[in-house]
Amino acid sequence: LLRRLPAILEQHAPAHRYAIITDSNVDHLYARDLAAALGAVPHCTVFTFEAGEASKSRRTWGIITDQMLDAGLGRDSVVLAVGGGVAGDLGGFIASTYLRGVPFVQVPTSLLAMIDSSVGGKTGVDTSRGKNLVGTFYQPTVVIIDASTLKTLTDRHVRAGAAEAVKHAAIADSDYFNWIESNSEAILDRDIDVLLELVIKSVNIKSRVVSDDETEQGKRAILNFGHTVGHALETSSRYDLLHGEAVAIGMIAEAELGVSLGITEESTPATLRSAVAALQLPVKRPSNLSPQVLHETIEFDKKARYGEPRFTLLEQIGRVSQAPDGHWTHRAPEAAIFEAFSHIM
Ligand SMILES: NC(=O)c1ccc[n+]([C@@H]2O[C@H](COP(=O)([O-])OP(=O)(O)OC[C@H]3O[C@@H](n4cnc5c(N)ncnc54)[C@H](O)[C@@H]3O)[C@@H](O)[C@H]2O)c1
Ligand SMILES: [Zn+2]
Repeated sequence: LLRRLPAILEQHAPAHRYAIITDSNVDHLYARDLAAALGAVPHCTVFTFEAGEASKSRRTWGIITDQMLDAGLGRDSVVLAVGGGVAGDLGGFIASTYLRGVPFVQVPTSLLAMIDSSVGGKTGVDTSRGKNLVGTFYQPTVVIIDASTLKTLTDRHVRAGAAEAVKHAAIADSDYFNWIESNSEAILDRDIDVLLELVIKSVNIKSRVVSDDETEQGKRAILNFGHTVGHALETSSRYDLLHGEAVAIGMIAEAELGVSLGITEESTPATLRSAVAALQLPVKRPSNLSPQVLHETIEFDKKARYGEPRFTLLEQIGRVSQAPDGHWTHRAPEAAIFEAFSHIM
């Protein structure tokens, strides 16, 4: 697909000028070649930021939008985010705000970005208060997934991406869950056919959920399974934990929470633990993170949400529980939250 990128763009996202937003790793791996194929500056310009979650910030947003203005990019430009979820979230936020919004194309190159972050239109940046606290809903015109780029991804990022696939399966499809567990080795070995199938199955689930509830008024929240605890782990570890790793641990904690609230089937945490472990993902929090710190981070999250922390809880693998008030997330008493933390200590 990447070889056909110029033709795909001409058909789906024609533009006078293209801005490629990428990070310092993906820059020489893929972005430079794509830029060359699209044509020289000024037709196509590459804007590169330092790889890593720390760049998903208002600071980088400011630097790149200034560079784009300096380069004279007008409203007839299209932004291409080429890279992992950081390039996608940041590039999408830039596209949605630059000159009040220019069209946007996602070219995800990490497994996490392919199966999760490039689909659904959530963009944004982190702040010192937490993740994704400033952002927009802004749909890409087209998402171009070329799974061959996964061959250069690190093993750790392949595993972290696979955590989001476990999440998709856990909330929507127990057959898919079993398929992932029995294909764990092939996933870790990057068997391209298995990875392609994983991408297709996950994108189908994600796009179905998002199409029903684009701006998360209701059921889209089921995609946050594992993420209330996961975001707290990720933020309080100061991003030592990758997003997918934090979500893996978060899913286990939230399954335990569901059991203690009498909502989740009792065997579910063990089933999740085994799927997570088969993908060589962590099942416990880093030893330097105290339950208090985690709790405080979740506490803050609540200000950004509904006045209190809410959790997506499973009934069982493949099915999410709807709360009595009709919401797809649940409240939980503080004691139950601490009890859930004890299972990931
Ligand atoms: N918008 C959403 O709906 C959504 C959903 C899930 C996650 N996210 C966000 O996604 C981010 C995590 O994404 P990520 O794990 O892709 O992080 P990332 O963008 O930092 O990419 C991970 C690492 O892999 C490198 N990389 C990417 N593609 C590569 C390739 N093909 N070959 C070699 N190296 C490659 C990157 O340079 C980086 O070092 C988080 O910020 C998270 O909040 C967003
Ligand atoms: Zn996620």
